[in-house]
Amino acid sequence: MSVSVDQLAIAGGSPVRDTKARPWPTWPIATEDDIAAVADVLRSGKWNRWRSDRVTELEAALKDFTGAAHVVALASGTAGLEVALKAAGVRPGDEVILPAYTYVATATAVLQVGGVPVFADIIPETENVDPASMEALITERTRALLPVHVSGLPCDLAAIKALAARHNLRVIEDTAQGIGGKWHGQRLGTIGDAGAYSFQASKNLPGGEGGAVVTSNPKIAETAFKLMHINNEALGWNYRLTAMTAALILSQLERFPERQARRQANAAFLRDALGEIPGIKPTRVDPFVTADGLHGLGVRFIGAEFSTGEPVSRETFLKALHAEGIPCSLGYGDPVHKLPLFQEAATRMRDHCPVACNHPAMEDMDYAELHLPNVERLCAEEALRFNQPLLLGTREDMQDIVDAVGKIHANQEALAAVD
Ligand SMILES: Cc1ncc(COP(=O)(O)O)c(C=O)c1O
Repeated sequence: MSVSVDQLAIAGGSPVRDTKARPWPTWPIATEDDIAAVADVLRSGKWNRWRSDRVTELEAALKDFTGAAHVVALASGTAGLEVALKAAGVRPGDEVILPAYTYVATATAVLQVGGVPVFADIIPETENVDPASMEALITERTRALLPVHVSGLPCDLAAIKALAARHNLRVIEDTAQGIGGKWHGQRLGTIGDAGAYSFQASKNLPGGEGGAVVTSNPKIAETAFKLMHINNEALGWNYRLTAMTAALILSQLERFPERQARRQANAAFLRDALGEIPGIKPTRVDPFVTADGLHGLGVRFIGAEFSTGEPVSRETFLKALHAEGIPCSLGYGDPVHKLPLFQEAATRMRDHCPVACNHPAMEDMDYAELHLPNVERLCAEEALRFNQPLLLGTREDMQDIVDAVGKIHANQEALAAVD
């Protein structure tokens, strides 16, 4: 049997890319400089924040990089969110409005400080929180807005800040994915009252684990510093970053601009080329986005537009894409409010304030009854994501992605058999 070049790999044809012969970039990347930086700390015997200068050097470097007046390095991005929320004045029972399309840590951080997560819907074209949905959820108990720059793409912070100003609320930016992003020329995390970065291994600036709070507010910075360690004045925790991790992040920061420039050039190419294919919708870049942080490139798959006949499902499309040798993942599989932690709030969260302490704010909070149509459709049917390591490839690599998507579109009838 002869196999046509154009036959889909999922139906027995040759894939666009032979990934054994031409593997995709892997992540994280450790250079000899990274290894030497960590080894130096190990040899010095000064492994922790108090004995080594590396952690304060990292804080200084992040101040330079972000333009923030204050930076407190921490053990993780989640720690960053908790510390930022607490330092900004979120108290037990306070409502914090966040998108339901995010990593669950955004919401668990709110619970950990005793806050009540209130989930907002998103703008499908950007996958980021919809300020109008946030506005509709503001009550007299609302204390803070917690936008998430999903995939590093900046949120509409002008609208969010205007809301906060009108209702006297704090804005904490979840910048875990947004180290490379800029809004009107300003680095993400520095536009609200505080921002939280993550240096977890998958992130564009990785240290294995690690995080930081950035702020221009000296009171928030002072409190964040006290919350970061055990001390005699405030109820802190041990959220300290190790000197080895700080040295690794500092070393990775040297290569960050060059890697980010490559991601940007590749994402611009993909946005143009994939955007030409019916039903393939890369996230929209609004005029206020002066740099997309590109922790990945979000793409919506609209089966009804992609398909000339019976709609192809996202899952079938993804299987066909994988068969062509192109890595691609689903976005967040579930809206956060649909996760067991929230659906079974009454049982699972019984140990936690504000549930355990029966704070009146929890009385109306029934996540099982909550419907956010845009988030739910994105999770169930549309979201795809090209993760950031892919964006470090060559132009030929990007062309393979476009060719594979185009090939599937052109041969979509063959998918009916595998659907
Ligand atoms: C949106 C978002 N928020 C928070 C976090 C938590 O960061 P970390 O894993 O460093 O605790 C992550 C990443 O893991 C994230 O993607």
